[in-house]
Amino acid sequence: MSENRQHWLNEELKLDERVNESLWPGGQKAVDRLAKQGKKPVRELIENVIDPGTMFFELSRLAGFGMNYPGVEDVPCGGVVTGIGKIHGNWTMIIANDPRVKAGTYFPITLKKHLRAQAVAEENGLSCVYIADSGGAFLPMQVDVFPDDGHFGSMFYNMARMSAKGLRQVTMSTGGNTAGGAYIVFMACESVMIDKMSYSFLGGPPLVKMATGEVISAEDLGGARVHTHISGGADHFCKDQDEAIERVRNILSLEPVQKIHLHRYEERPSIHPIERLYDILPTTGSQPIDAHAIIETLADDGVFHEYKKHYAPGRGDNLVTGKFRLKGFPTGVIVSNKIGVIFEEAARKAAEWIVRCSHEKIPIIFLQGSPGYMVGSDAEHAGIGKYGSDMVRAVSCAQVPRIQLVIGQDNGAANYGMCGRAYRPKFLFHTMRSRTSVMSGKSAGGVLLSIEERKREVSGNPMTDEERSQFYAKMVEKYDGEAHPFYCGARLLSDRVLKFTEIRDWLAMALEVSHIRPVGEPSFGNFRF
Ligand code: COA
Repeated sequence: MSENRQHWLNEELKLDERVNESLWPGGQKAVDRLAKQGKKPVRELIENVIDPGTMFFELSRLAGFGMNYPGVEDVPCGGVVTGIGKIHGNWTMIIANDPRVKAGTYFPITLKKHLRAQAVAEENGLSCVYIADSGGAFLPMQVDVFPDDGHFGSMFYNMARMSAKGLRQVTMSTGGNTAGGAYIVFMACESVMIDKMSYSFLGGPPLVKMATGEVISAEDLGGARVHTHISGGADHFCKDQDEAIERVRNILSLEPVQKIHLHRYEERPSIHPIERLYDILPTTGSQPIDAHAIIETLADDGVFHEYKKHYAPGRGDNLVTGKFRLKGFPTGVIVSNKIGVIFEEAARKAAEWIVRCSHEKIPIIFLQGSPGYMVGSDAEHAGIGKYGSDMVRAVSCAQVPRIQLVIGQDNGAANYGMCGRAYRPKFLFHTMRSRTSVMSGKSAGGVLLSIEERKREVSGNPMTDEERSQFYAKMVEKYDGEAHPFYCGARLLSDRVLKFTEIRDWLAMALEVSHIRPVGEPSFGNFRF
């Protein structure tokens, strides 16, 4: 086994371990507790709601680890499971509280994840199924989750607006939905409640007693029978979770069939097994990569139509541009090559290519492994700033679906030009090789050390050699730690950390889902040339 392969398999083992913590918070004890309440673990519900034998593309499983909230270090999976699956053949967003994580309450990261899932749904034209079982806002952090735009109310604002756009919002309540959380039931286009399991009320029994003196059970206050037979706040009364799932599927069975606005050719295998990526990707992000070998491993039949292959050798080829088919979908691609530093020729080529893809209405996949644009007087005088900006402008304005997969360093403005989060790629994936931060640990350590040295000198207390090396090592550790896919995934800076073997399947899903809405006409601002 090659050294690279051994390294990446070990890294992905660490990923498996972390994901396992997401899938089973509280272990068997928590599953048994659910069973006593007649409830199944949330992913089992999801598996039953999607079409049999189809795959659930679960997003952001690393969310919420190491957040260090008041009294809570980890919020496994962010406390909410989100992902895309097919229901009656239509791609649908599923958003499901996990009651095993602090009763499914909303921490800031829970909200971020819920809202990201709604944004993916709205942008791509997906209906939403909510599996609701939540204690509402995590009360010790109410100021961080309740009052602002992007907080609790935004979930319901999104439901209303998506519903108005014809995207169906269906809620299946499988537990408590208290106070603001009750709106997830009442705002749905159709909602399903389960006898003696679902509750929905603006104030629970303790609050009612305090406010009005009325003593009443949860069931009589806002149980499934109350809302389906008396208040009319919910629409379907079911006896258990199995029946509720069947009802949700029935509700969505008459939806119009989605059309994919991208021609799909016959799907062909790659000429190499995808596992080849384990061998060809070096063990650190700072080692050079071979873009052509990567493309050959991903492309159907290994066929790549390269754009400007011979342009500016040694400078233009740090980005490789072209087109291939992936599982039958034609796509443009921009791939970091070698050590990935972007020279002005590479930036110009990439900007041109983005404009061409936009005119041809084909999507663009960015395989990012670049530490930044070239620096220094030669590059500045040659216009790296303006050509880099042109690339960023093209990326920003391109109306075609853009998808980013990070396969190495992801620093500085290269993060912008290669369609980082701020440039709103339809999907953004990391791998265990990605390192996303403003600069690498080494660069940040050097810059921060020079600032600290100056400060200490001015104060008449210059640093000793030992202090210098300690300071530098601390900064390197901090920056490298924050760039790690676990750290970024915990904060939702990616939609998923993919194993190398998952890349083709996930990119194909992303291409398909991104084309449920038709692609508009290109329109770019003023380039500098
Ligand atoms: N904020 C903070 N923590 C909460 C919480 C909230 N809104 N709701 C529940 N929790 C915590 C509990 O303290 C408990 O913590 P622990 O494991 O450290 O002991 C954990 O979540 C599990 O709650 P528990 O009550 O044991 O679960 P349950 O399944 O028996 O009941 C609820 C679930 C949601 C019905 C119940 O917790 C509840 O009524 N919570 C309050 C809901 C509320 O009034 N929300 C208003 C906010 S908008």
